[in-house]
Amino acid sequence: MTELPQMKEKSTARPVARKQRTWHEADAPYTFANDDTEWERLNGVHRAIKEYLGNRVTLAPLEDLTPSPKNILELGAGTGVWAMDVANMFPNATVTAVDISFNNIRNPPRNVVLKQLNLLEGFPWEPETFDIVHMRFLLVHMPNFPELAKKCAQVLRPGGILLLEDLDLNLYAMDGEITDNIRTFYDHYHGHMAKSGVDGETGAKLEGVLHQLRMFSDIHVHNMPAPISGPFTDDPKLNKMGAEMRKSLGKAFDGIWVKMPGSGITQEMHDAMVHDAHDPSRQMYMDFYWTWSRKAEKEPETNTLRDQAWAWWEYVVQTGWWILGY
Ligand SMILES: C[S@@+](CC[C@H](N)C(=O)[O-])C[C@H]1O[C@@H](n2cnc3c(N)ncnc32)[C@H](O)[C@@H]1O
Repeated sequence: MTELPQMKEKSTARPVARKQRTWHEADAPYTFANDDTEWERLNGVHRAIKEYLGNRVTLAPLEDLTPSPKNILELGAGTGVWAMDVANMFPNATVTAVDISFNNIRNPPRNVVLKQLNLLEGFPWEPETFDIVHMRFLLVHMPNFPELAKKCAQVLRPGGILLLEDLDLNLYAMDGEITDNIRTFYDHYHGHMAKSGVDGETGAKLEGVLHQLRMFSDIHVHNMPAPISGPFTDDPKLNKMGAEMRKSLGKAFDGIWVKMPGSGITQEMHDAMVHDAHDPSRQMYMDFYWTWSRKAEKEPETNTLRDQAWAWWEYVVQTGWWILGY
């Protein structure tokens, strides 16, 4: 009897959209598009994150901040969706949302200020200006990300909150076995970005960077390994987050070979990576890290002018007794 060939497990990979994509024109290594497809992707991810966090925009207890926040800064704001949510949460605060390109933000709340700025060309804020500073999925695209984290900490007031939320731009397998297609794609991507000083595996390093800054009284880190290849965890909320990231993966890098001609990435390389990432017979995940840190309050000022004068007087008296031989 002839043996029938085994039917292969059907992949859930959908055909990748081949729309003409557009990118920002700023002098920055950022490689993701800035078109409607990207905006839909970012808004979808924002909605999924909120659901995962229990209808919250962050894990930090922003509501408990005293005094109530007046000045909030968001860098790499994208569609502005986080800034707008926070502006509605704190109607008496001003939320400054910064990005290299704002394509289609219409009618933001009146307390949102949109600022178009390439952060590689300027960081125009005074120290201790903001109650909250937020960056999500930006550090992973920026050269020398610890330096940007430090600048953010400096513009935060003592007692203020720094929210760094990022990921490792990689896929990992529960059994450690990544396919060649996935490895090849990410090796090319990271090899190219490294030439501009971008570290694409930022998420896992955030905690270390926050500790090294030595500016915070407390640091909180939550790791979210989102299942990409299928809903293989016991946590329905995490599985849902993974489903959104699965959709997102096919859109985020689509067309990237046009923006990164020197990287060696091809459409075939990209499609093979997405195909393997959707393989339900594997257990693959993406690693996200939500961090929030409170800037340490200043030490009370003990060395006042009066203290200094008293110390001088004591010194003069003691030296005088010593000179006189007592
Ligand atoms: C992956 S998106 C994340 C958007 C948003 N934070 C979110 O979570 O939906 C990164 C954003 O950072 C912006 N960006 C990248 N490089 C930048 C730079 N040098 N200066 C300012 N914004 C930058 C991009 O334009 C993009 O909107």
